[in-house]
Amino acid sequence: MLSYRHAFHAGNFADVLKHSVLSLVLDYMTRKEKGFCYIDSHSGAGMYQLKDEYAQKTGEYKDGIAKIINDDEAPEALEPYLSLIKTLNLNPSDSDLEIYPGSPGVAKAFVRRQDSSHLFELHPTDIQHLEDFCQRWRKVFVKQSDGYQGVLGLVPPPSRRGVVLIDPPYELKADYQKAVKTIIKAYSKFSTGTYIIWYPVVKRHFIEQMEKDFTNSDVKNVLQVEFCLEDDTQEYGMTGTGLFIVNPPWQLSEQLEQILPYMKAKLGSNNTSYTLKQLIAE
Ligand SMILES: C[S@@+](CC[C@H](N)C(=O)[O-])C[C@H]1O[C@@H](n2cnc3c(N)ncnc32)[C@H](O)[C@@H]1O
Repeated sequence: MLSYRHAFHAGNFADVLKHSVLSLVLDYMTRKEKGFCYIDSHSGAGMYQLKDEYAQKTGEYKDGIAKIINDDEAPEALEPYLSLIKTLNLNPSDSDLEIYPGSPGVAKAFVRRQDSSHLFELHPTDIQHLEDFCQRWRKVFVKQSDGYQGVLGLVPPPSRRGVVLIDPPYELKADYQKAVKTIIKAYSKFSTGTYIIWYPVVKRHFIEQMEKDFTNSDVKNVLQVEFCLEDDTQEYGMTGTGLFIVNPPWQLSEQLEQILPYMKAKLGSNNTSYTLKQLIAE
């Protein structure tokens, strides 16, 4: 089943959290000269047109990136992410935002000559867009194959420096378990890598199971961040979003302490809440 298209959701509040964290992680990785490997298990199309029928149909970016792109009060921790979106859009006003990067688009802005990138995507249309997007990108390897297997086949990277993003569509409930299990296995081969899992808050018990799977494993140093627009509900639909970050850069927690209240003020309502916790100690 491959009905999910990220084009409907590009630039929404969940992307703001995910891509600002990814930007901070990649920015941190580039502070050392030595190259690193970026692995994206579920890449999507790479770049999105916000004026196309998909983004316009839902208008989700209007309640996400468009609300903060030109805000003078944005905290310093959002600078790497916001300056990337501004550069792509040639310094836009919020009403004429045209382009929004997917995770490969974010990665492309940070990786250097000495870094390599491995991108996995299954959807027949999105893999085509992704290949087109990557055409002039050196040291990128794009595959139309299963991203979970892809991650496990690539760790540890030769450089022993790596960032893995696992960002499934969660159309299948098995994704909740598979995402964590893949990281647990990858960690057993490469315990110094930085791993990020994105998740939607749809049904709370799936997230509680992910937390249990992590705490019952050998994985150490897991930061968990969550941003919920609304309280949990039994109704259908995503009320919030979260990330597990294994081996986060040392400043990430403090940076999220700037980002979360700002997101609540700009993108949230009275019902909005957020949490930031060290799920597993170092
Ligand atoms: C949430 S989207 C990815 C968004 C992207 N990471 C970003 O941040 O812009 C999930 C993508 O995973 C793809 N996908 C689903 N199952 C997959 C699998 N087993 N391996 C690789 N890609 C998969 C879907 O086609 C979809 O494009």
